[in-house]
Amino acid sequence: MELKPAEVLISKEAIAERVSAIAKEITSRYDGGSVLMVGILRGAVIFLADLVREIGPSVEVSIEFMKASSYGASTQSSGKVAITQQPTMEIEGRNVIIVEDIVDTGLTLKRLREYFADHGAASVAVCVLLDKQDRRVVDVPVEYTGFVIPDEFVVGYGMDYDEKMRNLPAIFTVRPVDE
Ligand code: IMP
Repeated sequence: MELKPAEVLISKEAIAERVSAIAKEITSRYDGGSVLMVGILRGAVIFLADLVREIGPSVEVSIEFMKASSYGASTQSSGKVAITQQPTMEIEGRNVIIVEDIVDTGLTLKRLREYFADHGAASVAVCVLLDKQDRRVVDVPVEYTGFVIPDEFVVGYGMDYDEKMRNLPAIFTVRPVDE
């Protein structure tokens, strides 16, 4: 099915305001220390880029990326998440903040939290832009949340449908092109 943006769910201005507020929280939490911010490819790239630029100079920030994907016939119920691109930076002893676009079932973030704990991170926190709370299958702690949204498919601000529409500056719902 071909989809196009339907309505603005979260405006560019609302995103900027929330990103800045989250960055302030991170700045005060890690004041005088350092963090390794790990963006989950590809959806979190734009969120991460905006977020790090709002974190104050009192925090030493490093940036890393990794990739994970669900697999199995039914990705939502299989519960299997593969790490398809590992971070290359040293994780041991670091304060890791996993930066993700959306927490949906929670399976991806659960797996990622375990990954960093297993690799000796000093601390692990999760920062998501969007939380589809109604769809949660597994419990996973999320320390920083941008917006809780209803169970609707969204695109823009880094998030895609079929690798398209990531460039939209706001977050949109979608509808079929012929409607
Ligand atoms: P989960 O929490 O393991 O189910 O996976 C969340 C991932 O599913 C996110 O990182 C997105 O890549 C993807 N995802 C979930 N909902 C949407 C959406 O509405 N638009 C785009 N990607 C989505």
